[in-house]
Amino acid sequence: MKVLVLGSGGREHALIWKLRQSPRLQQLYCAPGNGGIAEEAECLPVDLRTLDSITALGARLQPDLTVVGPELPLSLGVVDEFTRRGWPVFGPTQAAARLEASKSFAKEFLQRHRIPTASFAICDSIEQVRSALGHFHAPVVVKADGLAAGKGVVIAKSKEEAASVAAEMLSGKMLGEAGARVVLEECLKGDELSFLVFSDGERVAPLVAAQDHKRVGDGDTGPNTGGMGAYSTRDIVDDQMRDWLVNHVARPVVTGMKAEGTEFKGVLYCGLMMTARGPMVLEFNCRFGDPETQPILMRLESDLVDALEASIQGRVSDGDFKWSEDASVCVVMASGGYPGTFAMGKRIDGLDEAGAVKGVKVFHAGTSKRDGDYYTAGGRVLGVTARARDLETAVERAYEACAKIKFDGAHYRKDIAARAVKRS
Ligand code: AMP
Ligand code: GLY
Repeated sequence: MKVLVLGSGGREHALIWKLRQSPRLQQLYCAPGNGGIAEEAECLPVDLRTLDSITALGARLQPDLTVVGPELPLSLGVVDEFTRRGWPVFGPTQAAARLEASKSFAKEFLQRHRIPTASFAICDSIEQVRSALGHFHAPVVVKADGLAAGKGVVIAKSKEEAASVAAEMLSGKMLGEAGARVVLEECLKGDELSFLVFSDGERVAPLVAAQDHKRVGDGDTGPNTGGMGAYSTRDIVDDQMRDWLVNHVARPVVTGMKAEGTEFKGVLYCGLMMTARGPMVLEFNCRFGDPETQPILMRLESDLVDALEASIQGRVSDGDFKWSEDASVCVVMASGGYPGTFAMGKRIDGLDEAGAVKGVKVFHAGTSKRDGDYYTAGGRVLGVTARARDLETAVERAYEACAKIKFDGAHYRKDIAARAVKRS
């Protein structure tokens, strides 16, 4: 079968790596891909910001299966368009992708369906923000309504800061259209959990859970990023918690979406805060997480093509996934300055040595290849991922591999999964 993956990050490299293990695979394409992906799939140019460009590629390839990595093409309606043309595609329609593309839609949906989430206020003007702030205690979370590539959330320490961040978002200067509406939220405390399920519009099948590390600095300090590292273990959630999350979060979302006429197919990423009051939804994503996909897929033992097809064809079941009991961890190596402005085009050395560490796979994110050498080409550059019998060993191996990789300005967190290792 001919498979196309859309995207260019570490998540897409992990998808490509796993898809290649499928006996059903014949041809594998990635658009646009990156330096590392080009070793494992044929990379083709595409502009993922325009539906025309993606559709032209689809017409040329006539893929038997398309997997959409990032959220933007989903919010543009790539699934609607491919489905109309008879090209099987994994993911939600444009209408269903609003669960991620509009935070106000997601919050009101959660409220309608009584799914636990932080209390909130939706505001279209600074006057509304000022009056809503009366109902909050500092710190207050300020979110841009639209897609902002992980940069649309600010945890304001005071109400004054919340008002000034909201004003900047609403002015359009900070995030353009995405900030034309803002959502204020109660600030929740606890451990975060990424709980992903496959859905066929009716049924859900959970993947193993993972924990991301969103802040740029050790000890969860500094600004939010797309994610600096993630891990997954057998006991990150027990069976009882997994069932609770399916019954009280994932399934009610899928049932509610169907009841509202916007059936949700694909992968539903539930971003949760495990608070003292129980798990609460922070956000939904309508796609695989990055970097969570790297450690999650490292633990997947069954065929990914089969599971993707089950979602498209309406026959998702718990039996779609077989998981390794091993632990896995991904440490993201980023360009100097990320998540702010950063330089690109720095040569990356030591990739072969890092890849030779036992149990390690180095997934490429922002890289390009020129004359046999790899260069940095983005903020998050590599996802150094390791699998081992226990989390401590997986972490040791990932960091042993990171230490072998050099590029000008490289930085990475030194405490990915550290709290979980301490607990174990
Ligand atoms: P979101 O894009 O909504 O997931 O927000 C990105 C990150 O901001 C989350 O992963 C959390 O680390 C943080 N965050 C979002 N909402 C809240 C909240 N209500 N309370 C505390 N932290 C939050
Ligand atoms: N790692 C968080 C995300 O994929 O949105």
